[in-house]
Amino acid sequence: MTYDFKIAGADPAVMYRDLASALQGLIAGEPDPIANMANASALIFETLPDVNWVGFYRNVNDELVLGPFQGRPACIRMTFDQGVCGAAAKTREIQRVEDVHSFPGHIACDSASNSEIVIPLISDGELLGVLDIDSPKTARFTQEDEAGCVLLGEILSRVL
Ligand code: SME
Repeated sequence: MTYDFKIAGADPAVMYRDLASALQGLIAGEPDPIANMANASALIFETLPDVNWVGFYRNVNDELVLGPFQGRPACIRMTFDQGVCGAAAKTREIQRVEDVHSFPGHIACDSASNSEIVIPLISDGELLGVLDIDSPKTARFTQEDEAGCVLLGEILSRVL
């Protein structure tokens, strides 16, 4: 079986709608969270232009622990007081950072990263973890990306 979604388009809203639909199809019916995080990170990494890292940090006893990802090897554990991911976990709000070098406490896993968006994944009031997406382009993530990532987060929160 091959998965070849060929999602592309100039309009980010359409692109994210198609990406969300592909993600839903890819993980539908599969209860294993590791399999779903692995396929989700690969799908998002392959689909979004100008990204160099896409992956998950899971909430394990109030610590963020590295999960499935695409990109360079990354830091393994973070507290909720560390990094952009920690800020997303602590505030439970999306963190969209135009320039990571001016974010206090940013953790540089890949020196190529210049901007980042982190989506908290919440189900029934419980923080499951975060989805982290990095880009080598400064200010890569727009308000439209944020809206699209909210959609992805809603789908992922139901299956992790
Ligand atoms: N930059 C993140 C750390 C994780 S890596 O980017 C993969 C942060 O500051 O939370």
